[in-house]
Amino acid sequence: MAHPKEERTLVLIKPDGVQRGLIGEIINRYERTGLKMIALKMLVPDKDMIERHYTVDPEWKRKVGEKSMKSYIANGEEPPFKTPEECGNAVIERLKNYMIVSPVIAMIWQGNKAIGIVRKITGGTEPLTSDVGTIRGDFTIDSYDMSDLDNRAIRNLIHASGSVEEAEKEIKIWFKENEILQYNLVQEKIIYDVNLDSLRE
Ligand code: CDP
Ligand code: MG
Repeated sequence: MAHPKEERTLVLIKPDGVQRGLIGEIINRYERTGLKMIALKMLVPDKDMIERHYTVDPEWKRKVGEKSMKSYIANGEEPPFKTPEECGNAVIERLKNYMIVSPVIAMIWQGNKAIGIVRKITGGTEPLTSDVGTIRGDFTIDSYDMSDLDNRAIRNLIHASGSVEEAEKEIKIWFKENEILQYNLVQEKIIYDVNLDSLRE
């Protein structure tokens, strides 16, 4: 089994994050945790890539539908969809229109619990209810009701993988093997070295 420090996650700065001038701010938030960036590129994806990206988990459409319908019910409102599947299908079409309008930044971050750490810093899906202090909570203001009213995707600045399986499949969509770098970062000596030998006189 790989050591925990090998865990990897895929992060995308979505078109709104790039257009809002938040590339540096977002990278800084992940970088300062001690996670290591091992790949980075800027590109304009096409609809096919977005479809492949959001269907790596065959259950995703149902899950995304359930999550947004629950949020409506929690707010005492009627969801605008009859079933989670109907909602999931609508969301993927909206994502295909949103994610291709201008460049995105794709990155791989590596380190202990990289997936969970990145999700924690990123915040929950809907910026209206994302925690204060998270990227989505601090830097934008979208909500499910407004995005549904306008029949468009929620603009929440970032994509971050949800599980190890999802991460490994998503990484293959965005990066070739030779675009992923293996290197030592000096700070890993203090984060992971068992005896801190390199610090002794
Ligand atoms: O991105 P995250 O993992 O937090 O959420 P998701 O449930 O995997 O949904 C993926 C993306 O679909 C979200 O980040 C939103 O941009 C979009 N979405 C949407 O536009 N409308 C919804 N009701 C749910 C998700
Ligand atoms: Mg997700």
